[in-house]
Amino acid sequence: MVHKIAVIPGDGIGPEVVREGLKVLEAAAGKYGVKYELINYDLGGEFYLRTGEVLPASILEELRQVDAIYLGAVGHPEVKPGIIEHGLLLGIRFGLDQYINLRPIKLYPGVWTPIKDKGPEDIDFVVVRENTECLYVGMGGFAHKDTPEEVATQMAVYTRKGTERVIRYAYELTRRRNKAKKLTLVDKSNVLTYGHDLWQRTFKAVGAEYPDITQDHAYVDATCMWFVKNPEWFDVIVTCNMFGDIITDLGAMIQGGMGIAASGNLNPEGVSMFEPIHGSAPKYAGQNKANPLATISAAQMMLDVLGEAEASAAVERAIVQVLSSGKIPTMSASGGLPTSEIGDMVAEAV
Ligand code: IPM
Ligand code: MN
Repeated sequence: MVHKIAVIPGDGIGPEVVREGLKVLEAAAGKYGVKYELINYDLGGEFYLRTGEVLPASILEELRQVDAIYLGAVGHPEVKPGIIEHGLLLGIRFGLDQYINLRPIKLYPGVWTPIKDKGPEDIDFVVVRENTECLYVGMGGFAHKDTPEEVATQMAVYTRKGTERVIRYAYELTRRRNKAKKLTLVDKSNVLTYGHDLWQRTFKAVGAEYPDITQDHAYVDATCMWFVKNPEWFDVIVTCNMFGDIITDLGAMIQGGMGIAASGNLNPEGVSMFEPIHGSAPKYAGQNKANPLATISAAQMMLDVLGEAEASAAVERAIVQVLSSGKIPTMSASGGLPTSEIGDMVAEAV
């Protein structure tokens, strides 16, 4: 089978890091006989400035037909914040019903973490972030705008269906991972007494079908504390869209930095999209200094979801090998080595 992969390099450092991801993909595919075809889309801020469109309906239709989407980063200094994020990123996540945002928080050997006295054996968990509901639905509005009486509302929406499917996915993942077999629901049910009450009830109801999984709970504020104090307590976390967004930036920091954190926007029954957590970092654009490891990691997740377990495992081994060598000074947005050199090292290790 030939996997059809849509590639959206995007803006800023996006094209540079995607180039390295594709380099590693090519190496792994060559070695393990993975067949794929790339379809390039020049969407992003530049495209918007040129055409006035963010995500043309015809392109969204085309994206429905591919096997996976590989995205670099979007966001352009000349475009008002929110337009590309909403129209393109959320447009694809919502449009293709990618209801899971999978964000592994894994400290690889040889990578520095700001958390004192913690190592790779302590920092290895997965955040399952709900990806189509919560504050992200864009419901709300203004009244009396630009007057002293102005009112703004922004609604958080949770459905039984949306909550149940992401929670079920998280239980399944916890079982498959077969580590501590513990699933932690992260919420704010002490304050969000409707929406997160639904989460609580759904978590328990679905959990009844998974007697082998320990049900755990933490409030989101306390979770931030535990990420720093006792990250080893976590195995798999399931949480709403907004909290998942926030805690995974903290998660990215404890796993070394934005230069290594990857994510998958999954629709297990449809088309999934893989991307680094970081943004387009315009200040590093075109300088060959952005760290491509997060984007390479996203390619590794993509291979796994495409059913290419061997190639995926090989890419992860290669990442570990390169990191263990200690040659990459930092996991921050810029890796301290040329972007292309890091890509070469990983491709070589594959
Ligand atoms: C992320 C980003 C996006 C989000 C933004 C850019 C819309 O922060 O992928 O975490 O909030 O989901
Ligand atoms: Mn975010």
